[in-house]
Amino acid sequence: MRKKILAIDTSCDDTCIAIVEANLGGFKRGLTRINLHIKSNVVSSQVKLHAKYGGVYPTLAKREHQKNLPIVLKRALKKANFPISNFEFQISKKNPNTKIQIPKIDFIAVTVGPGLEPCLWTGVNFAKDLARIWKKPIIPVNHIEAHIFANLVGKSQISNLKSQIFPAVCLVVSGGHTQLILMNDFGKYKILGETRDDAAGECFDKCARILGLGYPGGPAIAAEAAKFKVKSLKFKVSLPRPMINQKNFDFSFSGLKTAVLYDFKNRSRKIKKSKEYIRAMAAEIQQAIVDVLISKTLKAAEEFRAKSIILGGGVAANNELRKQFKVQSLRFKVKLLVPPKIFCTDNAAMVGITGYFHRLEAQNWQKISVNANLRI
Ligand code: KG4
Ligand code: ZN
Repeated sequence: MRKKILAIDTSCDDTCIAIVEANLGGFKRGLTRINLHIKSNVVSSQVKLHAKYGGVYPTLAKREHQKNLPIVLKRALKKANFPISNFEFQISKKNPNTKIQIPKIDFIAVTVGPGLEPCLWTGVNFAKDLARIWKKPIIPVNHIEAHIFANLVGKSQISNLKSQIFPAVCLVVSGGHTQLILMNDFGKYKILGETRDDAAGECFDKCARILGLGYPGGPAIAAEAAKFKVKSLKFKVSLPRPMINQKNFDFSFSGLKTAVLYDFKNRSRKIKKSKEYIRAMAAEIQQAIVDVLISKTLKAAEEFRAKSIILGGGVAANNELRKQFKVQSLRFKVKLLVPPKIFCTDNAAMVGITGYFHRLEAQNWQKISVNANLRI
């Protein structure tokens, strides 16, 4: 059934609103038809604001979300060709009888967790305001599940997707999470393992900070690593691959960050200021993270006889990770699903798609709450 969903995500430092029109027909029988129209997908990044701190400050991010949400909403509605002249999304306190223009949508989907609590609440409260005024039901969405569903973007006319991909092993790697999840069907998940300390994206961000590269660290490290030439190297850099040989599916990245810190501290001023060192370190950090992620994922895929590996989250935008996963998935004859890069990092289109699958769980706005530690 064709539905229009207005989706909101403010789980971290991006203010995201999208309007998605979906008709994912026959998914009980095997998802034979994916009719997905992302009518708008607006992301207002706070990168510049947080760059000077090298990480996200939740209270600062919350204030920015509050400021950005009405602006982002207007842009998302306009891009989706909804009329916004005289558009009011809040009933004026001075004039409670203001006529409000209600966009023709069926649902509001909003990320309720996991994420940074103050940030989540801004998006959820905004969704509740809209739902109350527009008289629309809210679909609560899990951010991790949304990163997985981002994989449906760009897929169309797929016959029997279900029988092609399940069981699947999903690797969700972002700034806040690193989880390996066994997915037996849409909505059926089992967490196989996760990070015991820092997330993979967090490790990229912290290492970038040590090396004096910008925020977010992932793209900054990837850019330096791409300039690295093995031949030009006059010294050796070697970092650990934490937990790579352990039988479980857990991860740990804080030791890698500490190893980077010690290496940096112990180098001479001349070396640590050199381009060669920064590039060599960036390449080694990236490869250490990629090695651990690929090795654990393949191990899980083998153990659970997965037909596919599904990637999601900001770190899945990493070129090397995508390239090396592709090679390995061909070698192991397992299907690989990776979203287009802009749908790997936080966005609300993925929240709208996930919302579509959960539309029967839509609730009255009064019942919606946040759970910063929500599990899949
Ligand atoms: O999914 P996301 O946008 O937000 C969270 O849910 O956390 O992920 C953000 C994380 C950041 O840590 C960022 O450094 C990392 O994803 N990231 C990357 C790349 N692009 C973003 N890491 C490695 N390579 C990239 N190209
Ligand atoms: Zn995310």
